[in-house]
Order: sequence, then C-alpha cells, then structure tokens
Amino acid sequence: MDLSPNDVFRKCFDFERLEKVQNAGLYPYFVPLGGHVGAEMEINGHSIIMLGSNNYLGLTDHRKVMEAAKAAVDKYGTGCTGSRFLNGTLDLHIELEEKLADFLGKEMAITFSTGFQANLGVISTIVGRNDIIYLDRLDHASIIDGARMSYARVLKYRHNDLDHLRYMLENNGRSSGVIVTDGVFSMEGDLADIPGLVEVSGEYGVRLMVDDAHGIGTMGARGRGTAEHFGCHDDVDIIIGTFSKSFACVGGFAAGPARVMEYIKHTARTMIFSASLPPAAVATVIAALDVLGEEPELITRCHTAAERARQGLASMGFNVGNSETPIVPIIIGDETQTLVFWKLLFQKGVFTNPVVSPAVASGGEMLRTSYMASHTDDMIDRALEIFEKCGKEMGII
Ligand SMILES: Cc1ncc(COP(=O)(O)O)c(C=O)c1O
Repeated sequence: MDLSPNDVFRKCFDFERLEKVQNAGLYPYFVPLGGHVGAEMEINGHSIIMLGSNNYLGLTDHRKVMEAAKAAVDKYGTGCTGSRFLNGTLDLHIELEEKLADFLGKEMAITFSTGFQANLGVISTIVGRNDIIYLDRLDHASIIDGARMSYARVLKYRHNDLDHLRYMLENNGRSSGVIVTDGVFSMEGDLADIPGLVEVSGEYGVRLMVDDAHGIGTMGARGRGTAEHFGCHDDVDIIIGTFSKSFACVGGFAAGPARVMEYIKHTARTMIFSASLPPAAVATVIAALDVLGEEPELITRCHTAAERARQGLASMGFNVGNSETPIVPIIIGDETQTLVFWKLLFQKGVFTNPVVSPAVASGGEMLRTSYMASHTDDMIDRALEIFEKCGKEMGII
C-alpha cells in the first residue's frame, strides 16, 4: 500500500513489534481454545493444565449455571437489542441487580455490559472538571481511561504507598475528589490496603471506589471481595466489578448508595448508549451468585490450589511477588525470557499468561498464573513439575 508520511494508517505499517515476536516463533496471544475453559483442557489436540483463566470458581461449566443460561435463551431469546435505558431492560436485569445489592450489602446495584464499561461510566459521571481523582499507579486500564474521560485532574500515587497519597491530598487543599483502586491488582495478585485507604479517604473527605474485578467471588468469607476480607466492607463508597471472572460470564456492575446509583444509571453514557447484557448472561450471573451462596467452599478450594502452587514455586526459587490471592505471578524481569518460558511451558502442557510492557513496567515482565476451585492437587503438582523442569532448562531457577 502506498502511504503518505502523514497517513493515519502509517502507524499500522510501522508497528514492527508484532512481526518481531512472530518471526522469533514466540507469539503468545489469541491462542484459540477449542472447548470449555476448565482446569485441564485440550488445545490443538493436546492436554494442557489451564493456569491462565479468571474462571476462579470454575463455574463456566457448573451444571446449574449452564442450565440457567440455556433456560434463559428458551424464555427470552438471544439478545435484548437495545440499551437498558430505552428498550433493553428485562425483569431478569432487575432481579440480578437486586440480588447483587443484597449480596454486596449496598443500597443499590446497577449492571453494565462489561466491567470496562462500568469503570468508564461510573468514573466519568461521578468526577468532573473541578474534581481530583487519585489513582494507584497499577490501577486497571479501564480505571485510567474512565479518569481520562472525566476531564478531572488525575494524580497517580506509587503502588499502595499511602504516604505518597497523603502527600498528594495534603498538597491539593481540600478539593473534592475520589480515590479509585483495584481491590486485587490484576497482574501482581496483591491487595490494596483498603483499611488504610478508608482511613485516608475519611481524613481528607474524599470518596473511595474499589474495582474488585478479581476480588469478588474470591476474597472474604462470603466472596464479597477485598473489603470484606479486611472487615471494612461498609466503609467503601462504591464497589465496581465484573462478571467475566468468578461469575463465569461477561458484564460489569457498580454498587453503592441508591441516590448515587440512580444518578449514574440516568447519566452514564456507557449505560445509556450501549446494548444491555443478553438474557443468557444475566441468568448465568444470577445462577453463579446462587451457587456461590450454596457452595462457599469453592472460595477456599480456589485459595488452597493457589497456595499449593505459590509455595511450590517459591520453594523452587521462583520470584512470586507478594500475592495473597488466586493470582500468582512469576516475575522474570525480561521480555524475551518471559516469552520463551511461556512457550516452553505451553509445549510441555501448562497454559500461563505472559505479561510484558506496557501492561507492566519494563523489568517487571512476568508470567501470570491463576488458580481455580476445580484445580486438583494432582494437576497443581504436575504443573509444578513442568515449571521446575522448564525453569531449570532456562536457568531461571
Ligand atoms: C481490575 C479490572 N477491572 C476491570 C476489568 C474489565 O472487566 P471486563 O472484562 O468485564 O471488561 C478487568 C478485566 O480484565 C480487570 O482486571
């Protein structure tokens, strides 16, 4: 294609990173999975232990959950073909929102079509030009984009560094503002200091929002998330989350004071100008919530699997960071080594997620591993054997 120097397509043709990785035979993305995302599955005809999924409770193929999805298609059809605001609200959406509010102990919950849209919609309606938004440097991309959309002043504090946050609050007078943090940090698997953030937000009169995409369903005795884990659930103003992880589906939500939720519901552009969640998705999440209530041992099982892996990996000499959650990083610190290690593990039967810059800072390249309630001890032990063999082969341990 003939391109002038100022053609907007120029960047696509100058994008060399992709070919470089492909030509080296190390391309790890968009791997097609041919079946249920279970704890062990077939990929390209060979069996692989899945340590790269967010299906923490293993509910994507739970009988009750699957049946609920099928029944919803029979009753409501495949889609709503409209936004919640005008023509895309089913009685099922209302039922889910009531259940969620009850589960989370908040006055009201509202659902969005993805967790990403929940963050964009909530943040960009709640903060505006005259406000300040305080973000942890490792917050998820959707929080950062929501902050950009809001036109508010954005200040990022060092990861989990509350002294740095205090310094920023101190130096910005008592302007109206909000702190937004991940509950469980999605790559590193460590926890935000929610009790500390509650204290700081109270001290400086700013609001606190927690995006607990990876904490809902995995943290706290009832799976209500990171704030429940720390015993300060009632002190978080707004909880945001996704259905694309523990709840085995797709979609997002926010929960908090009714008046605030009503405002977001009637003003957030990602709610008003985007089609609602399809019936099968809504029914899936309702059933997943029921299963979580009936089988809270799934939470423990997921942590037991992660702990077995974490201890095994650490004892072999891998750097597993500071995780206390079902996400266990293996920090490598070099992009090529990370991709080679990923490929070796994949070929030997373990699926992990390679995380390189810009998803993590240069020098923090890692394999992200994550664990499910459906991982057995035997699966974890077989995966550990493969980690040890490949890690030694590459001189990582
Ligand atoms: C912390 C966090 N927030 C939000 C999202 C977005 O969720 P969704 O997949 O529902 O768009 C993710 C998903 O990766 C996430 O990890």
